[in-house]
Formats: sequence, C-alpha cells, structure tokens
Amino acid sequence: MGKTITIAPVTRLEGHAKVTIELDDAGNVADAMCQIVELRGFEKFCIGRPVEELPRITTSICGVCPWSHHLASAKACDVVFGVEPPPAGRKLRELCNAIAFCEEHILHFFFLAGPDFVMGPDADYSVRNVIGIAQTNPEIGKKVVRSRWLGAHLLHVVSGKSIHPVTAVPGGFSKPLTQKERDEILPMAEEMLEFAKFAISFAKESLFPKYLDAVKTIGVITTGFLGTVTDEGGLNLYDGKARLMKPDGSYEEFEYKDYTDYIAEHIEPWTYLKFPYAKKWGNFSMDLDNPVGIYRTNTLARINVCDKIDTPLANQELAEFRENFGRPAQQTLLYNWARLIELLYNAELVVQLLNDPEITSRETRVPVKPRAARGVGCTEAPRGTLIHDYETDENGMITDCNLIVGTTHNNGPINMSVKQAATSLIKDGKYDQGILNRVEMAIRAYDPCLSCATHKLDGTIPVKIEIRNAAGEVIDTLSS
Ligand code: NI
Ligand code: MG
Repeated sequence: MGKTITIAPVTRLEGHAKVTIELDDAGNVADAMCQIVELRGFEKFCIGRPVEELPRITTSICGVCPWSHHLASAKACDVVFGVEPPPAGRKLRELCNAIAFCEEHILHFFFLAGPDFVMGPDADYSVRNVIGIAQTNPEIGKKVVRSRWLGAHLLHVVSGKSIHPVTAVPGGFSKPLTQKERDEILPMAEEMLEFAKFAISFAKESLFPKYLDAVKTIGVITTGFLGTVTDEGGLNLYDGKARLMKPDGSYEEFEYKDYTDYIAEHIEPWTYLKFPYAKKWGNFSMDLDNPVGIYRTNTLARINVCDKIDTPLANQELAEFRENFGRPAQQTLLYNWARLIELLYNAELVVQLLNDPEITSRETRVPVKPRAARGVGCTEAPRGTLIHDYETDENGMITDCNLIVGTTHNNGPINMSVKQAATSLIKDGKYDQGILNRVEMAIRAYDPCLSCATHKLDGTIPVKIEIRNAAGEVIDTLSS
C-alpha cells in the first residue's frame, strides 16, 4: 500500500508550511508538495482606505519584512500622486533598505539555514539550531548577535523605528538625518561591513567546501530568473528595470508597471499561495523534466540576472561565484552563497550612502495631492521581487490592490525543489530524520516568508472544508 509522509510544520523558516510526500506501493515518491496553511488577505481589506495609509498598514503584513512592504508601498504612492522624491529622500529610503537587507540576510544565514551547514544535516534537531551554533562557536555567536543589534540600531537612528516603520511617506522620507546622527552611526556601519566580510570568508573556508556534493544534488531544478537591474545592468535592490532571464541565460527587460504583460498567476486548490509564472513562455507546468513558465526570485536570481555589482568587494565575489558555478547557476542551495554576496553588497552600500554628503540634506520630501490613478511600486525584498499595485479614485481612496510578494514567485520552484529532493533521496520506502531535513533544506534555501505571501481573498482561491468522523474519514465537503 502507498504511504504519506508529512513534515509539519517545516521549521526554521518564517511562517507555517506543511510538506506532504506520497509514496507509491514500491516506496518511491509518487508526488510531493509544499502547502501553505495560513492566510493574510491584505489585498481585500486595503480597499476603501486612503492610499497614503498603505505604507503604514502594509508593514503589518510581516514583522520580518516590514521595510520591504513599507518601501514598495511608498513607491507605489509616489506614482499614484505623480511625484518624485528629492535625492535625499530617495537615498534615505535606499539606506534603510540596505540596512534591513543586512539584518535579514544575517538572520537567515545564521539562524535559519546555517545550522544545517554548521552542525550538519544529520545532526540531531535538538542541537541543529542557532543555540547549537552559539554553544559550539561562542565567538561567532557573539558576533552574530552584535551584528543583528547593529542593524536594528542603525534603523532606529535613521527612521526612529526598526520594525513597522513610518518614515517613508508618499513623496519622500519624513525624517531628515542629522550630521550628528550620521557621525554616530558611520563607525557602526563600518563594523557591520567587517562582519559581512567575515561571514562570507567563514562560509567559503569552513562551511561550503564540506557540502559541495549536497549543493550539486539537493533541490536542483532548471528554471528562469527574475531580478532588478540598473540601466547599466548592475544589481539594484531599490529601483530599476525587471530583467526576466530564461534558463539558457537569454533575457528580456520590462518596466514593473507593465508586469501583467509578462507575469500571470496560476492557482491550485490545495494551497492559499498563488503560482506566478512567465506567461509568454507557455502554460504553467511544474513538471520536473519539462517545467513551463517557471522562474525564481530572491538572492540566486538577482546574482544570476545582474551583469555586475556596483560595490568593489561584492563585485569580486560575484566574479568568483560565476567562475565556480556559471551563469545562470541553477543549484538551489547556492541561494545561501548568493545571500552572503548580497550581505556584503548591502554592507558596502550602507557605508557608501552614509558618506554621501547629500544624505544629511533637509530636503527629504515633496507635498502630494490626491487624484484618481494607478501606481505600481516595486523593490527587491530580501526574499524576492516585491510588487505593490494600487488604484485610487479622485479622493485618493484605494479601489483595487494587488500584491505579489517575493516568496510567491518562488512557490512553483519551491514545490519543484521539494519534489526533486524527495524523489532523489527517498527510495524503497527508506528515509530518516536526516533525509527529511534535507528536503527541508531545499525549502529553507529560498528563505520563504509565508506570512508575507498569502493575500488573495476574492473567491478565486476556493476555501474547502472537509468534515471528518472520529476515524479521520472525510464524510462531507463544503466548498465556497
Ligand atoms: Ni515577510
Ligand atoms: Mg496578489
């Protein structure tokens, strides 16, 4: 008889997911899926709100990624109001984005993914966590905690609040940075840069070489990639053009306001999370041998699509990464390596922006007036390309709202990587905790933020209620 293996909840990621692996009679994998079992629904209840409230409301989607929502939302508002923030307003937003990226990438690498590499994928789960890292490497533990504090403190000084911020406003940034504040935090930013340099050399010397076989096998799939680049093809996380790359490395570029010409969303009845896909590539398919329309976002995608990185140390790391793994690199666990390259880039960028004389200008915002319009705001969030799309009436009230969150783009790829990992690791019904953890590693590499990712609440995703008897048998099904 076939059998179902369930991993619930999947641990060391943000939010709640359940993996279901179905085995056939011979004990080999017949199917596997990653189900998202929570629902946020912001797209619906933002309707009817004044658009200028959205940069504050949408930060509540997630305590981990509030800065990304805050900035994408403020950018969408700029377009709705038809204004452009002054240079210092834009630079303060970019500064906060870069600091938040440092915090997020440190959180993911050391707290969520790192234990699999430091303690090993087969280590007992009681020690395979950040406490285990701190116990075996107290010096590293101290550095990690200190660098997380630095990130929160920098954001606190620049914007008054590190979580659920309020300072990015339509038309700019509400709080100018004083010379005194800049002088206080510049040495801290330099300390963060030292930590970023340490993190990537530590991983390259002590962690990744041990796992090159795992990198070549766990969760590997072949897909396209989406990321944001400058006009010169440089990596940019705050603004730019979308570059959509096919698996063969060829690409096309588009303005984010035109995203619906390139991206469509597929729906499956068994999850609240939609499946965006590249619609010009054909009809969505997650078939492992012949996927259609599948592209990935987040660190590996951005490192693949950009031609260069505009800070010197990260650009050197990009060249070395490409020499080792080619372009586009497809191995899923390389997301972790790419994450450390981006950590370094952001740490360099924070120092660069704080040294920019314009950052302390008092001209940080322009006034705005409500009007009927549509505005698409897009940033690269730590977890992938984030799109906020609003429509307003003449009083500036929201009439329509669509969010596509970084993790949502990776829904198809995560499911494919889970299936690939399960299929290659589970044979003849044999598996253990180490094998199931390797399936989880394939998900963790994408650093999904699931509370961010589920927003559709308009009847296009059916809600199904199963009524079961005491024996667990389904006796009735109600559906919307
Ligand atoms: Ni989030
Ligand atoms: Mg949406």
